[in-house]
Order: sequence, then C-alpha cells, then structure tokens
Amino acid sequence: MLELNYRNVDEAIIGHENGLNIKQEFENYKGTIARIIADLNKRKDKPGQWLQWMNLGYNEETLWYVKEYAAMVQDRFENILVLGIGGSALGGLAVTEALLKPYWNLLTSEQREGLPRIFFLDNIDPDTMTGLLEILDLKKTLVNVITKSGSTAETMSQFMIVKNILEAELGDDYRKNIVATTDKRTGVLRQIAEQEGYKTFVVPDDVGGRFSVFSAVGLLPFALVGIDIDEITNGIKDMDLLLKNTDINENIAAQNALIHYLMDTQKGKNLSVMMPYSSRLKYVSDWYVQLWAESLGKNKDKAGNDVQIGPTPIKALGATDQHSQIQLYNEGPNNKIINFIRVKEFDNTMEIPPIFEYTGIGYLGGKTINQLINAEADSTRVALADYQRPTVTITIPKVNGYYVAQLLYMLEVQTAIAGELYNIDTFSQPGVEQAKNYTYALMGRVGYEESAQVLQSKIATA
Ligand code: PA5
Repeated sequence: MLELNYRNVDEAIIGHENGLNIKQEFENYKGTIARIIADLNKRKDKPGQWLQWMNLGYNEETLWYVKEYAAMVQDRFENILVLGIGGSALGGLAVTEALLKPYWNLLTSEQREGLPRIFFLDNIDPDTMTGLLEILDLKKTLVNVITKSGSTAETMSQFMIVKNILEAELGDDYRKNIVATTDKRTGVLRQIAEQEGYKTFVVPDDVGGRFSVFSAVGLLPFALVGIDIDEITNGIKDMDLLLKNTDINENIAAQNALIHYLMDTQKGKNLSVMMPYSSRLKYVSDWYVQLWAESLGKNKDKAGNDVQIGPTPIKALGATDQHSQIQLYNEGPNNKIINFIRVKEFDNTMEIPPIFEYTGIGYLGGKTINQLINAEADSTRVALADYQRPTVTITIPKVNGYYVAQLLYMLEVQTAIAGELYNIDTFSQPGVEQAKNYTYALMGRVGYEESAQVLQSKIATA
C-alpha cells in the first residue's frame, strides 16, 4: 500500500509559524472533505463534469481492444514513435520510464524479448526531430499520433512530416504504420483518420489531456511495449476504492490536498516540489508539474471572482538535486512544501565493495546503494525539518505497474480535491487554449486572421 507521512508538516516538528496543527486541521475540514469526495463521486458520471478519468480503471472494453491490437502489431515493428504534447505525452513518458527496463531503447531486440523500442517526440525542435528521424527506420516504426483536440499545431506538424516520409517510403501501405488516438467525433485528426482509413483509438469524452494517462492515450503505448496493462488497471481500481473513503483520516489524497492547500493559503508556501528518490520515477515529476499547474493555476474562482491563484509545481530528483536545489530549499525563502517519493524495495540490490578501507570513503564499503539512496532521502527530510521546512513523504512499496498506477491516480484525485478547496475549475485550461489560438493565428490558420493582425503589430512593438 502507498503511505503518506506528513509528520514533517506538523507544527510540533517545524514550529507554528511554518507548520500546521494537523490533527486539528483534519478535524476542522472533516465535513468539507467528506462533502468534496462524495460530490466528486456523485458527479463523475455526469456529462460535462470532466470527471470521466475517475472511471478509466473500469473500462474493460478499451482494455480489450488495446490488448488485441497490441498483440496483433507489436511483432511487426521495431519502434513505436509517439507524437503528442502535454497530457498526450507526459503520462506515457512517466509510466514507460518507470516500468520498462532502464535504457530500454539501448537493449538488443533479444534483451527486449522482441518488443519494440519506444520514442516520445513531445517537442518541435527541428534539430531533435531531424536527429530522431535519421536514426529511426520509419518503415519499421508504428507511429502513434495522440491529440485529443486533433489540431494541436506541434503534434499535427510532426505528424504531417512523418506521414509524408512514410508515404514516400511505403506507398499506400503507409497506413498500416499509423495509429491515431483522438476524440471520438470531432477534430481534424479524426477527420483525416476517417478519410485516410487509419486505425484509431479514442480519448474519451470528459477526460482532459492531463487526466488521460489511463485511457488509450497511455494504455496503447504501454501495451505495445509489453507493459502489463491489467496490473495497471488493478492498481487504479484498488486505489479508487481507498480514495472513495470520505474520512480524511483514511484518505491520503485528501490529506495531501488539504496539507498543500493550507500550506499555500495559511503559511505562504505556494511552491510544491515533487522529488522522487528514484530515477525511474523522474518523469512522474514532469507529469505532476503539468497536472498541478494546469489544473490549479486559474484567474477566476467558480463564482467568477478574480483570484489569480495556484501553487507553482517544481520538479526535482533525489539524490541528484540534493547537489543543486537543496541549498535553496534549506536556506532560501521558506515558501515551499516538498513531496518526497521513496521506494521501499528496489528491484535490484547493489553492494558497495569493501575497498579503500584506509581512506575517508571506507565507511561506504559493505553497504548497499539501496541503503545510501534511502538514507539520503531520510537525512534530507530531517535536515529540512531542522530548518523548519515542511515536507511530506509518499512511500511506494515497489516500482511496478500496480503501485505506479496507484501513485498517479492518487495524485489525480489529490489534484481534483485541491481544486475544490480552492473553489476553481480544475479541468479547464483557458491559458493553454489562448497560447494555442495565438499560434494558429501566427501560422495563418483560416478563421484567425483578425488575431493575426493584432498579434503581428504587438510582436513588432514588443
Ligand atoms: O491537459 C491538457 O488539456 C493540455 O495540456 C493538452 O494535453 C495539450 O495541450 C495537448 O492537447 P491535445 O491532446 O489536444 O493535442
């Protein structure tokens, strides 16, 4: 089971100025939290509430179709190339990085048991793209283009480039190398996919990009590289049951949501650092940053009042960033809450040989790297507490599909509960849409001519 240790946000440890009286706060917010959880679970099936992600663990049909398609095609391709950005890429990256053998793409086909390599192209740097396309044999590559809206300029421009190369190399057969994941009915990609006859999967209605990792957006790439997606959905379902508990004392997502909310609104700690002590969980931080930032950074509350709120998420990696960020976190402004993720049991144990006993590093000999990384997590947490800095620690028993899915789902529910506490619309992203619209205008999309003119003059004078 996942555990949340919040002792180091308590005022008994870090003092009243920076800490909370947790027992008292849980009591104060007991009713509010119970109402929020009950309400989310009541609203989740209603159209237009954007809560369908809470049902993704139970979507047997998608699971079946994904497994069937993956089994049919995965032997035919050496590579999977995912084209997508934001919520259409970050969940896939986080989970594949966590669950595939480290350095997966560098393993031989035999070491990968014949399963394909996987690449995520989530940016439009022309040099990186050129570099990747130079090393990938597109004829042996299955391209999974993922976009809910079906028109995101970054993803669609990548797709247009890749499609042209594929068609030039494979003729009419190029279609077999494309699978599109997009909205059921609307969007340009849906239109193209139907015209051209691509295999498609659906981003379900009422599931926003940053909450879509357990839809076909994530499940398809996972299954294609041999990740056990039943294990993933089992993890979500079990966590969902735990998080349906309306008692804050029993619900870790509610606890962490409330702690973050109070730290921000009462103690001025509006920066939230995500710091796993596991390289395999490195991209969980990237995924969390999008989830937390896009969901909670809003300028209006639900009543339409100007609020301009939202805690700023920061990604970090333990132990690496102890040597870059921790100085600031210990001694700089006391305006952060740090989330450590700690792994109880790593897959491997690495012993440090008992050599150089006569030197200052002799003490390391005979210990394990496992002991070292967890000792570093503990000592950093304690040092931060000495400086009266709040931290919480999420402990994950193992890095496997079951627990990684639980971790991500717990963070999704935590975000939804935090959004209710802030009283904002967690599931909209007008700021992202604004930037997208400006890009469309600048790139000459039909219907955006007026904005293009205004923008051009602003750019000229800015
Ligand atoms: O969470 C969101 O909604 C966004 O960050 C999207 O995931 C991102 O903009 C990509 O959008 P789309 O999937 O429509 O291409």
